[in-house]
Amino acid sequence: MAKKSNVLTVQDLAVYYGYIQAVKKVDMEISQGEFVVLLGSNGAGKSTLLNALIGKAPITRGQIMFNGKDITKWRTEDIVRAGIAIVPEGRGVLPTMTVMENMLLGAYYVKDKQDINKGLQAAYSLFPILEKRKNQQAGTLSGGEQQMLAIGRALMSYPKLLIMDEPSLG
Ligand SMILES: Nc1ncnc2c1ncn2[C@@H]1O[C@H](COP(=O)(O)OP(=O)(O)OP(=O)(O)O)[C@@H](O)[C@H]1O
Ligand SMILES: [Mg+2]
Repeated sequence: MAKKSNVLTVQDLAVYYGYIQAVKKVDMEISQGEFVVLLGSNGAGKSTLLNALIGKAPITRGQIMFNGKDITKWRTEDIVRAGIAIVPEGRGVLPTMTVMENMLLGAYYVKDKQDINKGLQAAYSLFPILEKRKNQQAGTLSGGEQQMLAIGRALMSYPKLLIMDEPSLG
């Protein structure tokens, strides 16, 4: 059972890709206001674990509770709606779309136009370069600028939990 104060509780999680066991037995708790860092060598299963949290890895055992709800088998879109956002490994920006279009994708489930604009302004004040380059193709940004875009885009969904995979890259 998840403790009330926990935003996220992962219990006994296992992920297999066919015969390859990528995540063996993970227990993890994250409370409101906490920063939790996951460390491990290459291939340890960090990205797989993070992807499992947003419904993008084949979970074979265990449970993920988010704000008191069992999201273990939820689809990614429902997990995003519930309040988890990810800055994926490799950033995942859409290179032929503009910076602004990438940002707006992060707000896909935000219906209120004012909230979308507020989100944009917040991201632009965090990363002013994104506003300067808002009409530029995302693929032509520098590596670090693309990383800023990936973070800004994730924040556009007003997440309650922000997951960042290798955020310092670039
Ligand atoms: N889609 C997949 N199909 C098969 N095996 C996979 C798949 N994704 C990951 N793996 C394997 O699972 C293991 C864990 O990979 P993962 O990407 O989670 O590691 P990581 O801890 O994020 O490593 P890194 O620090 O290099 O990013 C690796 O051995 C990898 O080869
Ligand atoms: Mg990784």
